[in-house]
Order: sequence, then C-alpha cells, then structure tokens
Amino acid sequence: MTTQFACEGIELELFRYPTQQASNLQAWDAADEHLIKHLIDAQQTVVPTAILNDNFGALTCALAAQDPQWPITLETDAKTSLLGCQHNLQHNHLVPKSLSIINSRQILNNHTQLVLMKLPKNLHYFAQQLARLSTRLAPGTQILIGAKAKSINAALLSLIVKNLGPANASLTWKKTRVITCVSDGKARKIAPAVNWKIDELGLNISNLANVFAANKLDIGARIMLDNMPKGDFTQIVDLGCGNGVLGLHAKQCYPQAQVHFVDDSDMAIASAQHNWQNNALDNTEQDTPQGHFYWDDCLTHLPSEVTPDLVLCNPPFHQGEAITDHIAWQMFVDAYKRLKKGGILHVVGNRHLAYHVKIKRIFNNCTTVASNGKFVILQAKR
Ligand SMILES: C[S@@+](CC[C@H](N)C(=O)[O-])C[C@H]1O[C@@H](n2cnc3c(N)ncnc32)[C@H](O)[C@@H]1O
Repeated sequence: MTTQFACEGIELELFRYPTQQASNLQAWDAADEHLIKHLIDAQQTVVPTAILNDNFGALTCALAAQDPQWPITLETDAKTSLLGCQHNLQHNHLVPKSLSIINSRQILNNHTQLVLMKLPKNLHYFAQQLARLSTRLAPGTQILIGAKAKSINAALLSLIVKNLGPANASLTWKKTRVITCVSDGKARKIAPAVNWKIDELGLNISNLANVFAANKLDIGARIMLDNMPKGDFTQIVDLGCGNGVLGLHAKQCYPQAQVHFVDDSDMAIASAQHNWQNNALDNTEQDTPQGHFYWDDCLTHLPSEVTPDLVLCNPPFHQGEAITDHIAWQMFVDAYKRLKKGGILHVVGNRHLAYHVKIKRIFNNCTTVASNGKFVILQAKR
C-alpha cells in the first residue's frame, strides 16, 4: 500500500483511519486526483468551498496544501472519515485558516461558492445530499463530483439534474470522470426518513438516508432477533448499531439493562436515538435514561466506566466502496478489551466470512449457537 500522494505538484503522505489496519487499502483514489487535477487545470481561485464525502481527507489536505487560506467546510457522515482527515492534516503539518466541520444532518452555510464531492456508494443518500445542497446554494454555483467512470450513466446524470441542476461529465482519466453540475437555485424538498415496522416485536423503525438496511430489516439482523442470548445482562453494547434494531430488542429482552449504541455513521446514530425514544424504551421509574448513543469508530472512545456483559454485533464487510474485514476484526478486538470477565460477544455473519477463525484467535473460544443456509450466529466468552 502506498501512502505517498502526488498530484499536480501537491505532495502529501496520507493514511486511512485507523492508521494501523489489517488491510492494504489506500487512503485516496483516482477520482480524488481527478478532482484536484480539474481544479488546477481550471485555475480555480480560492473561494469558500464545501467538501462532501472526503474519504480520509485527501481533498481537504490538497486544498489546504495548495493555499492555507482556502476556506473549507467539510461535511461527513462517517466518523472514521473525520478522524482520518484530522489525522492527515496534522501529519502533513497543514493548518487551514478556516476549516468548519459539519455532520450529514447539519446545514451548510450559504456563503459556499464551490462544492467538491465524491460520489457515495448509497445513491439514495446522494440524492438527499443534492437536495440539501439545493436549499443552500446560490444559482450558478459549481458542484464538481468525482466518480469512477463505470458508475456514471444517464440515470445518474438525471438524478443530479432532478435534485440540483444541469450536469455533464468530463472525459475519462484514469478510469474516472468529473461531473460538473451548476446549481439552478431552486430548493428541492428533502426526502423524509423511511419508516417500517417489526410487527411481532411491536417496534417502529425509522431510517435516515445513509442508514444500513434503510428500507427493510436486514436478513442477518432477523436471525439475531430470533436468537438473542439467555442471561441477565445489565450493560449491553450494540456495536455497529445502524438503526439500532438489535439494541432496541435487547432492551425488550433485558428490561433492566443500560444499552450503548455505537456507529460510524452519524445518520445511523441519529436514527437509533430517534427509534429508542419513539418506541418509549426508557423505564420511566428510573431517573436517568438507559439508552446511550456514540458516533464513533468501534469502541475507541466508549467511556471507561462502561464494561459490558453483552456485545451484539452484525459487522460491516465493506468500508465505502472497498470490501474489507478489518472493521470486523477491530470490532471483535475492541469487544474483547471492553467486555467484563465472563461477558459475551454475540455476532452474526455470512457463513462464508468465517468470523469464527478470527473470534477464536482473539477469545480462545467460539461456539456456533444458530445457523441457517446463509448465516451463522457465533458466541465467544471473555
Ligand atoms: C451490517 S450493518 C449492521 C447494522 C445493524 N446493527 C443491523 O443489524 O441492521 C454494520 C454497521 O456498522 C457500522 N460501521 C461501519 N464501520 C464502523 C466503525 N468503524 N465503527 C462503528 N460502526 C461502524 C455501519 O455504519 C453499519 O451501520
């Protein structure tokens, strides 16, 4: 894996986040380079610029390297992207004069004169981002969207036109293209959260645009809900909680428990929190709420007083576009570090991912407690 970024005279050393990870993936891609090249070729002047979906800060660092006076607003849904960007700025001794950071639900300031964007994997979220931009950008504002050439087609261009303004794509360079969209100044309606029910559990689930399994219950989550572990658990972590479905049901199964929801996605955490409140899961006779919510990378910043006796986990097997099992690894290692002695890690995974090998290496034990043709539920004791 190379960490040396060199593009149009800008040289940086860039890392993914976490910097030490069991993967050989790079912190930027050719679409990042294409966006930078496009700006330099166009002799772009320094104007207030919003950067959306900057995986590990390559775009932010490149603008800051080009001119530290460049005013930047960085919008991200992923905590790992934010932490990666902050780490890379620091590592490259870059101190932008004006850098504001907002999450995927905050409102962009209306001074923005240029937007740089990477195409996210989730097109429903992309449409929502464009519609949000349409409410803030003055007519004529340029939005540059970098993407793999194979992801760009007529349907994608019409999605952009529908949600923000006229768009056309550049020629292909290193198998990527830059789409130039010009805001038409008409504010679009932002799509509301998607709602569905789990009738047999009496749970109402609401999902913001970038939440995993936004339209229906995931089949891995389904088998977890049918096979919750037996025990008198009091401190539970729903690790990679998405809309919170596992933690919400855990509270139904273990009513005295404190439940800690953790996810890398800001929209996931907001949805889990909304779902907790909307399903009235707090015991009202207790003075303090029992649901706790953390926008974080695995258990990195979980308060030290939280020592769970149960960790529920349906791990991701990709990070952005990249298929990788390093997050699952980190989740299992973090669970091992934080569980009480005798506490349980309860994991669902696609059978072919062979999580049992990793879990056994970390915990020295691993039992299959349920399975169907496709999924297994594995349990390890601390
Ligand atoms: C397979 S989904 C499971 C969601 C939910 N628990 C369910 O069962 O429907 C995996 C979740 O892990 C989250 N995730 C990915 N990377 C993460 C990280 N580094 N730290 C915490 N959560 C992460 C994703 O945002 C996603 O919501």
